[in-house]
Amino acid sequence: MKTIVSPSLLSANFIDLKSDIDMINRSEADWLHMDIMDGVFVPNISFGFPILEAVGKYCNKPMDVHFMIIHPENYIDQTAQTGAMMMNVHYEACTHLHRTIQQIHDSGMQAGVTLNPSTPVCMLEDILEDVDMVLLMSVNPGFGGQAFIEHTILKTRQLRQMIDSNNCKALIEIDGGVNSKTAPRLIEAGANVMVSGSYIFKAEHPEEKIHELKLL
Ligand code: DX5
Ligand code: ZN
Repeated sequence: MKTIVSPSLLSANFIDLKSDIDMINRSEADWLHMDIMDGVFVPNISFGFPILEAVGKYCNKPMDVHFMIIHPENYIDQTAQTGAMMMNVHYEACTHLHRTIQQIHDSGMQAGVTLNPSTPVCMLEDILEDVDMVLLMSVNPGFGGQAFIEHTILKTRQLRQMIDSNNCKALIEIDGGVNSKTAPRLIEAGANVMVSGSYIFKAEHPEEKIHELKLL
């Protein structure tokens, strides 16, 4: 399958968000990645529902929402109402992950489970067949512009093997330090979706960076 590119809005220009969404709408981006943080699960706070709702109305790409919060289960209906296509919750933040995944599906969204860099992929053995996507963090979540953690390549290979040998449908998405150097290696290891923030939005010609990633 062709690689899916999901630019991360966290690195956009918030004083002129409309221009950045116009760029996304024009570009070859497949999805738009939105990072929600609570200052508890991660040591940072980003944006919340007012932004999600406004962007959801204006952006013509499906929203891939990444919740870095405790108790994401409390916000499932509110997220569905923004028109989000995919809700990603952290394995480390969900005590009753199976129920949360079911509730996300019941609300009409696709469900993704996210792993921090220190959580092994084997922890997904009993949930893999229920999810639409696994999001592997290739940096510690909370900030854009961090260096790629090399071990993610091995995790991607292990996860690809688990998915294929169990005939699961889950996509593999990678988030953190994705650029023209790391993306080809991740795709070769079996990843399907590239989230990329600073590499795209801090570039002089962001649409070209998206195009480059689409060619991989
Ligand atoms: C970090 C976020 C990422 C972030 C990636 O916690 O989940 O989506 O925007 O930024 P880059 O691509 O700059 O590493
Ligand atoms: Zn993210």
